[in-house]
Amino acid sequence: MKYGHFDDSAKEYVITDPRTPNPWINYLGNEDFFSLISNTCGGYSFYKDAKLLRLTRYRYNNVPADSNGRYYFIKDGETVWNPGWQPTQTELDFYECHHGLGYSRFHSKKNEVEADLTAFVPLHETCEINRLRLKNTGSEPKQLTLYSYVEFCFWNAVDDSTNFQRNLSLGEVEVKDSVIYHKTEYRERRNHFAYYCVNRPIDGFDTDRDAFLGAYGTIQNPKAVRENISGQTMASGGAVIGSHRIVLNLAPGEEQSLIFILGYAENPEEEKWEALNVINKKPALQTIQKFADEKTVDQALADLNDYWNQLLSRYTITCSDEKLARMVNIWNQYQCMVTFNMSRSASYFESGTGRGMGFRDSCQDLLGFVHLIPERARGRILDIAATQMEDGSAYHQYQPLTKRGNMDIGSGFNDDPLWLIAATAAYIRETGDLSILDEEVDFDNNPTKKDSLLEHLKRSFNYTLTHLGPHSLPLIGRADWNDCLNLNCFSKEPGESFQTTGPSEGPVAESVFIAGMFVKYGAEYAHLQELLGNRLEVKRARKAVEEMTEAILKDGWDGEWFLRAYDASGEKVGSSENEEGKIFIEPQGFCVLAGVGVENGYAQKALDSVHRHLETKYGIMLQQPAYQTYHLNLGEISSYPPGYKENAGIFCHNNPWVSIAETVIGRGNQAFEIYRKTCPAYIEDISEIHRTEPYVYSQMIAGADAPKHGEAKNSWLTGTAAWTFVNVSPYILGIRPDYSGLLIDPCLPDSLDGFTARRIWRGCEFEIEVRRADRSNGEQAGTFVDGAKIDGSLVEPDGKQKLHVLKLL
Ligand code: BGC
Ligand code: NOJ
Repeated sequence: MKYGHFDDSAKEYVITDPRTPNPWINYLGNEDFFSLISNTCGGYSFYKDAKLLRLTRYRYNNVPADSNGRYYFIKDGETVWNPGWQPTQTELDFYECHHGLGYSRFHSKKNEVEADLTAFVPLHETCEINRLRLKNTGSEPKQLTLYSYVEFCFWNAVDDSTNFQRNLSLGEVEVKDSVIYHKTEYRERRNHFAYYCVNRPIDGFDTDRDAFLGAYGTIQNPKAVRENISGQTMASGGAVIGSHRIVLNLAPGEEQSLIFILGYAENPEEEKWEALNVINKKPALQTIQKFADEKTVDQALADLNDYWNQLLSRYTITCSDEKLARMVNIWNQYQCMVTFNMSRSASYFESGTGRGMGFRDSCQDLLGFVHLIPERARGRILDIAATQMEDGSAYHQYQPLTKRGNMDIGSGFNDDPLWLIAATAAYIRETGDLSILDEEVDFDNNPTKKDSLLEHLKRSFNYTLTHLGPHSLPLIGRADWNDCLNLNCFSKEPGESFQTTGPSEGPVAESVFIAGMFVKYGAEYAHLQELLGNRLEVKRARKAVEEMTEAILKDGWDGEWFLRAYDASGEKVGSSENEEGKIFIEPQGFCVLAGVGVENGYAQKALDSVHRHLETKYGIMLQQPAYQTYHLNLGEISSYPPGYKENAGIFCHNNPWVSIAETVIGRGNQAFEIYRKTCPAYIEDISEIHRTEPYVYSQMIAGADAPKHGEAKNSWLTGTAAWTFVNVSPYILGIRPDYSGLLIDPCLPDSLDGFTARRIWRGCEFEIEVRRADRSNGEQAGTFVDGAKIDGSLVEPDGKQKLHVLKLL
């Protein structure tokens, strides 16, 4: 069952039934100001940091679901309705929500009134614009009363939802003309405030939530709207809202347009005040004036569209499979931008108050983003590297506002350092910019401890080598990519954090997954050193990679597949000898994509085992059999009911590893089948089972052991976005940036005869055509550049601005 449809020409997903299984959301904003917006106008906004600078309140876990949002109540006689259906849930005569790239548009009708609401964050601005057009489509004049509504958050989202004894005496506002200023805490240490305005005179307002809703009132049926009044209330203490009341008279056929702005503004310390306790409103008024008329708003919207069209034009394909094309051209790249911006910080499942940016997460998110805006990727790499410790280990997380490592969680996740090599290598493959390696970067955010980025990578590399266990495999520390395989934790206390309990440095527990990573990214490190001509270091690195490969083949192989780990007692994890958790996905995917076991046949064996033991119709499960009971020696993985999350869920993030591994051994059909199974566009038809948005990836789909097999959870913020883009683009379609050229090496399924692509790489426009050679006409496989056959598949642009590449398979 579907709840809408794709509109590829507009690059939109159009939701036609507001009762989606979950709120289906979109992200507005690209730089500093962000909003989440659901298909019923729910969501919240923040500036830079979802924990520390949150503008509006959102209630996770709320009933009814998805409250609050930016709400517009239209009172038409006794009927009250909203363009986005919520919160009144008044049945609409027509409803569509168009989630597009950086904007959402709601088009709805009720009783001969048509509403058209567009929400977006203009480029380079710190505000969200809501343009609402209301039209009388009937033959009688209409008088409508419109109420706007947002509820302000007191900036620190954690304090806001916990420290009520203080907060309830804090709230302060100013109202001037049609602008409501939220200035809680501005009198003391803040120099920022929020505002919410409309571009016309108003007939009333409220800023006090209790007054607007009425005693024990609800947002579904606010007293002010019901009674068609507004109290001109000035919040003082209590909960602060912004609500404008506007009476509209619409002649038959008449349309009126209103522009609302929810914005963030700040003043220099010395210019905070205009008079005693009166905010200096200058920065807000500048923005308000700028967007006072339709023209500027239209222009800002057009600029946003151009921005996205231009970004996405760097990589486009055409092919016979429309679902593949829409994911590659639009949604997968779009999600990569969002995950790059957000890491795992703020979604409908990540409250924005916890994790900040993840070291490994941000490094991986970059893999799918770097081709879009390489300069931003560069900055991010340097920020992340600055949180690395001198010994090469890394803070597992850092706060985006301060860019400082998070002490609470600390370090000890032994895969983290290697992801820095992955990210840097991806950046250099994309841009050729080796100068990034010379950048001086702090250790532990301490400017007195600095060294080049190259030195950082060396410490990453060495960290693995100086943390090897009894089988010469890498020690796992607190956990590797699988945060829930906590082999040194042994937690017995409810509520204790699996991630920080126990010693971070167990001397025995080893990870075959990190070993696979080391082979892959150790080789990248050696390659970078080779480009710099550091021969001795290349030799040392290659030798270490070889030794790691041998260690995997010797002690990391279980007979039919790669082992997952050795636990703190030296017992095998992910072995046929285990009762549960006999086979895990991660080492099969990663060891093979790193090339381990390709020569001796282990690679194929491992992937066949994945197919046999882990594959379901909805994707590949993380491990099997699921853990039925809690295993003290394994930690959080066994805390989840079977089939969910890391306990045998279909963890979407590592499905692409297996798909890439399939391309490494040349099995295009298998690779594509794995890609297709978790790919949102292909499962749109089962939205009632899948439940999350059919245009973006989710973190997890319930595995075969779960009663709700096939149900996805945690959409949007997942490393799956980046990895599936890496899977489909450089591997299945085979357009792979290498250090000196673009490698054209597709591994297609039989169902795809070929495709064409346009890829901008290092300033050169590659027009690529891939098809099967017409052997009956004497055509032979090969790579042709501007008509001439070349040796191999590596195309070097040599300063050219445009190249036509024909690849015959
Ligand atoms: C989740 C993991 C996640 C970790 C991070 C765990 O509860 O299962 O997927 O990485 O929390 O906080
Ligand atoms: C989600 C976390 O953000 C990521 O870092 C981790 O690798 C996966 N969960 C798997 O546990």
